[in-house]
Amino acid sequence: MLNKKITSLLKEIEQTQFLEILLTLPSREQGLICRQLCNFDFELLERMKKTLDKGSRSFEKVTPYTTKRKRGDGELKQIGAELLKKGKCGILVVAGGLGSRLRYQGPKGCFPISPVRQKSLYQRLAERCVAASSQVGHPLQIAFMTSASNHAETGAYFAQNAFFGLAPGQLSIMVQPTWPVLDLKGNLFLESPGKIATGPNGNGSALASLVEEGVLNRWKQLGIEYIVFIQIDNPLADPFDPEFLGFAATAGGEVVVKAIERMDPDENVGILVKKETDKLGVCEYNEMESALRTKRDGHGGLLFPLANISHFCFTVSFVERSLSFELPLHPAKKSLKQLMSDRTSLLPEKPNGWKFEHFIFDVLPFARRGEAMIYPREECFAPLKNYQGDDSVATVQKQLVEIDRRMYASISGLPIESSRGPFELSMDFHYPTQELLDDWKGKPLPEVDYICATSRRNAR
Ligand code: UD1
Repeated sequence: MLNKKITSLLKEIEQTQFLEILLTLPSREQGLICRQLCNFDFELLERMKKTLDKGSRSFEKVTPYTTKRKRGDGELKQIGAELLKKGKCGILVVAGGLGSRLRYQGPKGCFPISPVRQKSLYQRLAERCVAASSQVGHPLQIAFMTSASNHAETGAYFAQNAFFGLAPGQLSIMVQPTWPVLDLKGNLFLESPGKIATGPNGNGSALASLVEEGVLNRWKQLGIEYIVFIQIDNPLADPFDPEFLGFAATAGGEVVVKAIERMDPDENVGILVKKETDKLGVCEYNEMESALRTKRDGHGGLLFPLANISHFCFTVSFVERSLSFELPLHPAKKSLKQLMSDRTSLLPEKPNGWKFEHFIFDVLPFARRGEAMIYPREECFAPLKNYQGDDSVATVQKQLVEIDRRMYASISGLPIESSRGPFELSMDFHYPTQELLDDWKGKPLPEVDYICATSRRNAR
């Protein structure tokens, strides 16, 4: 049964249409809804409604962010390598989004992506962590933020695969909160007779999850001082990049950003900007005035030259402080059916509505100081977003093959014939120990299509 308090709260926030629907439900379902409403953030709901009422927003005033800092500073690399050896950084990976654009049913992290072995995004990252840990002789920490719809599957996937070699205690899997989604008129609605429709609340909840799930505290006790943030859908993101960590440690601020140069003015990437406060920030591609987004400078380059690849490094104290930041709500019109875990008849075939999110990059302007460093795109950005076309399986695999070719050539010191077909290196080539370097120097590329670093040693 609906109690009086809930009824009047719903009236107060103008959810009378939703209330009428509730009143038609059997009392068991009403009871279930009541229980959900008891834990409901009515203030958040009001903010959502207000955001919608404001209608088409005026664009934020921004100016270009530029920097001359470029990857390639050996001293920073040395500093970062020392910090990695001392176990001063933990890796936070956001993986709560849905893989629907990839036409994939399971968690996006389980998507098989490597060109030969078909290793998943999760497996590649776990193996990176294992290899980087061996390189520095210290078990490095990694945490994934999942969402309600893929959390259980993610945990089971790691367990079934023996955690891909990660030691117990090296891996944390957190779950992000869900928020109500609204129909086009701004009303709450039911996903199924006893459940209010909700969806994941955006990657902006990652820092809070790290704190609230107790992971940060544990990491602090291990001596961690820096949190490197990456997205699961960029298999070229190297979370254990010593130079980037060295940059974070010496920049004298709370946040550093790995950026790339923009190529196409219409590319779907966030754009680095200076906000009104003169602070470094990001404007999402669909939230920036088109004329400004595509504007050229006097030399034909893009006026806003840098793109966000969602690769950041935060100090631990900034992460703790971030819980007090009031981040803006970003509404997006979505096909809601794709968001629902429970697809029942209550939803029309092609429902549309509003989903609200917090974006991680909105924490940047809160930093006392934030700086970006520019990296070559082909080294650090291979976004996996679509089934076909741009940023798809084919484009990502091509980049992965390329990086392995360059890596092998650099380690062996031998050129690789252009006629040589695709091959894949085991992850330890990316974090070579001295032993590995000695083993593979001067060795012509084996004929096999999967090259495992330990195979030479085992064969001896
Ligand atoms: C994101 C960035 C964009 C950047 C681009 C680079 C944001 C808001 N936008 O855009 O500036 O240029 O990546 O590829 O960050 N996620 C969650 N929980 C959620 C929603 C998303 O964990 O509720 C995770 C996803 O799993 C993914 C990442 O956040 O790892 C990005 O999500 P997605 O919605 O794909 O962002 P893009 O639009 O591609």
